[in-house]
Amino acid sequence: MNDQIIGKAKANQAIADTRKALDDIERDIAHGTRAYVLGPYLSPRAQTKIGHDPARSPAAARAMEARLEEAIGLAAAIDLTVAGKGIAQLQALRPATYLGKGKVEEIEALIKEGEIKLVIVDAPLSPIQQRNLEKAWKCKVIDRTGLILEIFGRRARTKEGALQVELAHLNYQKSRLVRSWTHLERQRGGFGFLGGPGETQIEADRRQIQERVAKIERDLETVVRTRGLHRQSRTKVPYPVVALVGYTNAGKSTLFNRLAGADVFAKDLLFATLDPTARAIRLPHGQKVILTDSVGFISDLPTMLVAAFRATLEDVIEADVILHVRDVAHEDTEAQSADVDAILGDLGVRGAKAVMGADGAPFQPAEPPTPLIEVWNKADLLPEHVHDQLQAVAANRAAQERPALVSALTGEGIAALLQRIEDKLARGTTNYLITLEPSDGAGLAWLYTQGEVLERREDTKGRILAMLRVPPQRKDRVLQRFPEAKER
Ligand code: GTP
Repeated sequence: MNDQIIGKAKANQAIADTRKALDDIERDIAHGTRAYVLGPYLSPRAQTKIGHDPARSPAAARAMEARLEEAIGLAAAIDLTVAGKGIAQLQALRPATYLGKGKVEEIEALIKEGEIKLVIVDAPLSPIQQRNLEKAWKCKVIDRTGLILEIFGRRARTKEGALQVELAHLNYQKSRLVRSWTHLERQRGGFGFLGGPGETQIEADRRQIQERVAKIERDLETVVRTRGLHRQSRTKVPYPVVALVGYTNAGKSTLFNRLAGADVFAKDLLFATLDPTARAIRLPHGQKVILTDSVGFISDLPTMLVAAFRATLEDVIEADVILHVRDVAHEDTEAQSADVDAILGDLGVRGAKAVMGADGAPFQPAEPPTPLIEVWNKADLLPEHVHDQLQAVAANRAAQERPALVSALTGEGIAALLQRIEDKLARGTTNYLITLEPSDGAGLAWLYTQGEVLERREDTKGRILAMLRVPPQRKDRVLQRFPEAKER
């Protein structure tokens, strides 16, 4: 064996060790771990002082209690036992510990008393802050990004989803090397081969991670390429795609099941669905559509997670109709809705707002913007007068923008929603009467891949007459192949 091969084998071993160390870190956040969830939020006065206008930032203006509840929901999604919770209203951020000294001590006491093993801080902590808090509290601390990564990691189901999450995880770990990798050194006893003389352990660790990152990036390229192929074959499916999106816990999976009559993972857990799931369903007049479920949106998605999140939303980008599912019984429903709209804008599916991606690259706004129906879900939870009021508000909106008030749980409003989907789909489509020579079997087969063949018969000369319903984005293609097609 030459040196190069030995070097490579050792490097692979080192990467395997890195993976193991990551797994060890994850084991710290095990099922049932007693956790304390802390919401350290700037007081409105402090926000104004540092130039944040709460009125302009929906996330910041969000009631603190609601933000804390969301963080608790996220903790529950990874099976932690939430043994304590609290809000700390901050007047200023402390560089060393994020929180003030008094607060740190107060929580230290609570940790002892409640036998807490993990504190979730619903804020972006710097590595130093995280380390200092862990020292002060003598237990593991994770911040909001760490928590969401955990959830993504446990829920990712497609290869690309898993790779994107691992990539985000590695980058997050890399930025935190100072803190969490000290135990790695102990465990491995150090390999001398990766770095040259004088290279510190941290640099070596960073190199290991970097190698893994490079490998994942290569894998991702392959996955994305093959997925492109899958998608091409998918566009051959002549049915329009209806994509469900919405804030986490809004009821997407429940609605999906209701519409599809299918049994997809619906639980009272946030992020029960990370990767889109698809089913074919029939609309009232028999038209088939493909319904896709997607991962829930959350507020303040950390920038480094945007790519992982976006990877789960491919179907939404390509959808013919988007159903934006909202929990209208949630006190924070307006802010949630604004978040979803903003992300849809970033994804380029809601034309006007699409300007820039998280990585700074401009997005091509989808032209025309994908039709969207707002689904006002959980109607059954509304007090009667609010229910009636919302019904009236919906009825007063222009037909194009009218939301559908439904309960995915009881089935209220579902028939009307299906009708709305049908209307939206019919709006952009065109029917063409196409004449094919008797020998043109390939042409006929092609038509079936481009739209819905509503009717088919032979004329007296044995030619085939087909009535084809075509969605707007496929009109040009059809006219190119059959310039004689007559619009009906
Ligand atoms: P994520 O996968 O986290 O994005 O959530 P989701 O939007 O798919 O929500 P899911 O369907 O899992 O529903 C979340 C919770 O809300 C579950 O406990 C559902 O039973 C409940 N739920 C969904 N729709 C309704 C509804 O119309 N009425 C009531 N009362 N509860 C509902």
